[in-house]
Amino acid sequence: QFPMPIPPVKAPKMSVTNPVTGQPIDYYEVYINQFTQQVYPGKGPATLVGYDGMSPGPTFIVEKGRETVVRFINNATMANSVHLHGSYSRAAWDGWAEDVTEPGEFKDYYYPNSQSARLQWYHDHAIDHTAENAYFGQAGAWIIHDEEEDYLNLPSGYGQFDIPLILSAKEYLNNGALLSPATETDSLYGDVIHVNGQPWPYFNVQPRKYRLRFLNAAVSRTFLLYFRRATGSSTKIPFQVIASDAGLLTMPTTTSDLYISMAERYEVVFDFSPFAGQNITLRNTEDVGADTDYLHTDKVMQFVVSNTPVTDTSSVPSNLAAVNFPPPKSGVDRHFEFHRTNGMWKINGVSFAEVENRVLANVPRGTIEIWELENGGGGWSHPIHIHLVDFKVLSRSNPDAGRTLYPYETLGLKDVVWLAPNEVVRVEAHYAPWDGVYMFHCHNLIHEDHEMMAAFNVTKLLD
Ligand code: C2O
Ligand code: CU
Repeated sequence: QFPMPIPPVKAPKMSVTNPVTGQPIDYYEVYINQFTQQVYPGKGPATLVGYDGMSPGPTFIVEKGRETVVRFINNATMANSVHLHGSYSRAAWDGWAEDVTEPGEFKDYYYPNSQSARLQWYHDHAIDHTAENAYFGQAGAWIIHDEEEDYLNLPSGYGQFDIPLILSAKEYLNNGALLSPATETDSLYGDVIHVNGQPWPYFNVQPRKYRLRFLNAAVSRTFLLYFRRATGSSTKIPFQVIASDAGLLTMPTTTSDLYISMAERYEVVFDFSPFAGQNITLRNTEDVGADTDYLHTDKVMQFVVSNTPVTDTSSVPSNLAAVNFPPPKSGVDRHFEFHRTNGMWKINGVSFAEVENRVLANVPRGTIEIWELENGGGGWSHPIHIHLVDFKVLSRSNPDAGRTLYPYETLGLKDVVWLAPNEVVRVEAHYAPWDGVYMFHCHNLIHEDHEMMAAFNVTKLLD
């Protein structure tokens, strides 16, 4: 058993003044580097490629409203494009798949950070190679804080009581190297579960409340997580979900099972105080969705709870945030079906490259639309991500499994929604604040790389 690493916090290189607003802009530099690391216990080293030569990359922590420019310098051998997932970046800095930075080049990305407090993540988005690049290490956390959230007195302190848990699932060769997803055309579910880059780690905690920020950064694996004691009672232990993709929920919701599909974020407050001196394991339920399971895919990590009593002054208030839901509206503005045809992954019958300018929908800026997303069958899951917007999940229908909406999906806004086999989901969003051409796609990165991706054009308002 190995301890769970906490990705280090990224420091800016300098601050400059925005010539337009007079406000400070923090400037960062990140090198995308190849490196080797012994990851799988007892085997040889794996070759990885990561931001600042680590996997996951360093964590950015920014205050709401503090603008940043990040220079991503490609020192690796494959082209890259960086997407800050969860940010309403302007199109030029949104990681458009075909806007790649070649080895030896760099690109400066501007991010306004003006959205509410939330866990975003930055990851590669290069055309045809996103799965490989993200899997070999190009993914990291980006946290926005704001005053409203600080005021709540939730468990806090990055790496202390506020802990990122970046989940992934990989496959190793006998020599300890990673099996590449490059030649996969369906999915790479992975039999080795990692948290913050370490397979099946343990983490020492005090008997008190912790904020656990889950991010599913896996290529193809959806998790259904639960906590239980390592020994003795196998009852699932309830916990509170406080935030999802776009930040805090209106109020906490208690559950003992958490579905988290690829690219989704859920933040949880888990209270270890009743478990002093015990071990709590975080586990995954097997046979979820279309995922393939292996011998150890039911295990995620272990929390080792110390026996020393502590004073915990943090709290989880019964109201968390005023979420900016789009106003109620009826009807369906657009329908998109995600399906596989002749071995190709498509949206409404077409793949990314088949559409002129890639644009499947023109949406006038400022419009509120309801999109109906349909899983066209075949047994696969398709977590659907729409760039630029935060959406409200309105409904979920699943004639087969009878899966319904969970409170943690609807009490806040999201940017990814899981389409389990045969499900039809409706999401409502305000297509703002910028115009521009943005992507939407399946976040099974193998499906994304095989063209289950399209664009929508938020068109200018003419006044
Ligand atoms: Cu997280 Cu278009 O991606
Ligand atoms: Cu898919």
